[in-house]
Amino acid sequence: MPRYGLWSSPFMFVLAVIGSALGLGNIWKFPYLVGQYGGSAFVLVYLACVAVVGLPLMVAELMLGRRGRHTPIYSLLRIAREEGLSGGWSVIGWLGSITGILVLSTYSIIGGWSMAYVFRSAAGTFHGLDAVTAARQFQELTGDPERLLAWHTLFVAVTTLVVGRGLRHGIEEAVRWFMPVLLTILGILVFYAHGQPSFDRAVEFLLRPDFARLDGYALLAALGHAFFSLSLGVGAMVIYGAYAPERVPLLAAAPVAVLADTLIGLLAGLAIFPVVFQAGLDPSAGPGLIFQTLPLAFGGIPGGQLTGTLFFAMLVFAAWTSAISMLEPAVTYVMERWRLERALAASLMGVLVWSLGLLSLLSFNLWSHLHPLGDWFTPGRGTFFDVLIFFVTGLLLPLTGLLTAIFVGWRMSPDTSRIELGGGWGYHLWLILIRFATPVAVGLLFLQAIGLVDLLLVWEAL
Ligand code: PFF
Repeated sequence: MPRYGLWSSPFMFVLAVIGSALGLGNIWKFPYLVGQYGGSAFVLVYLACVAVVGLPLMVAELMLGRRGRHTPIYSLLRIAREEGLSGGWSVIGWLGSITGILVLSTYSIIGGWSMAYVFRSAAGTFHGLDAVTAARQFQELTGDPERLLAWHTLFVAVTTLVVGRGLRHGIEEAVRWFMPVLLTILGILVFYAHGQPSFDRAVEFLLRPDFARLDGYALLAALGHAFFSLSLGVGAMVIYGAYAPERVPLLAAAPVAVLADTLIGLLAGLAIFPVVFQAGLDPSAGPGLIFQTLPLAFGGIPGGQLTGTLFFAMLVFAAWTSAISMLEPAVTYVMERWRLERALAASLMGVLVWSLGLLSLLSFNLWSHLHPLGDWFTPGRGTFFDVLIFFVTGLLLPLTGLLTAIFVGWRMSPDTSRIELGGGWGYHLWLILIRFATPVAVGLLFLQAIGLVDLLLVWEAL
């Protein structure tokens, strides 16, 4: 029995894992990646990445949690000792817990924008909007540090409050309420989109395979997204696994969560693109799609005020159920390490996330001219926000994933993993994947992040 209790049922466990996985990554990024990299051809590649890297790593992280029954840092320490290995393997827990805090500090800014847009849409601000005004409205928000600060503070406060109330009264309650609301809204939006004349065009856009647009970058984009979308490398799955009831078969639970995450990403696309096409707009890429193109689209269609409000509310709920899982590993560590009450530990970590978030927040306005890594760093505009995102998703997540695969696949005894996972063909397949396929694929992602793959591609082209 873990120190902080268990999920009340296997169903709640799976729902919480889905809640963590389902977030801004699915609703904002997945549909646009699918559109950009060749529709269903990209979906197929993404599914392959999920199967070869995502799923095995999710099983591994959940298993480490359930075996260790502790905060990720102590779980890894405990398992390493049990296996007669160096306690240094707890670095996996450290990296994950620290990365969770860093990711949350940036995630909270986008979560804050989403909250602001719920109210904008409800107030009818999008009505009759034109492209220039939509862009200006977005810039007005991101350019105003005080308003951003208010939304960021609110987002962090809600996350902290939920985590501070504990597993059963906080996290589980949030998942229990937010998830049905979120899924209902998605259902309504897809139903609404289905009625739009451009629904078929959207289906085609999302699902028509265009293998010509698939290249090495698409593969790496799919791999990177599999990581982020499944909340891997952040300790989130380790801590959620620590609360998993003994009888849950992890080899069955993880595929359910992964499938749900992918399906919901596709459904989000089916909710978004018909509206965008109906308004005669281009499915532009990145944050612009959600915060500029979509308001424009909602402003130009009947019932857009309500559907727009629902859409952004869905985004906020999805972001919250992800955010709590990023904070939990660090909070439980602080509780344990300094013997603090949960509420106090959560508040301390909340203040830390809030303060770190200022770096991202100011990147859009007062510090937009600051490029901490100078000319050396080119992705995005090189602001603190861009550097942080790159550092986290490009380096820290793959590094933690790689170490996890090596630890679980090569250092931990197969007897231990067999006991946790129950043997059978599924287990053997998992062992092969985590030993061979996952490290190679994650290593590739890692090389891309430090620029080596780019270099190779250039060489090849010469
Ligand atoms: N999976 C989330 C998304 O797709 O938006 C992001 C995320 C959540 C990453 C939780 C990491 C995490 F611990």
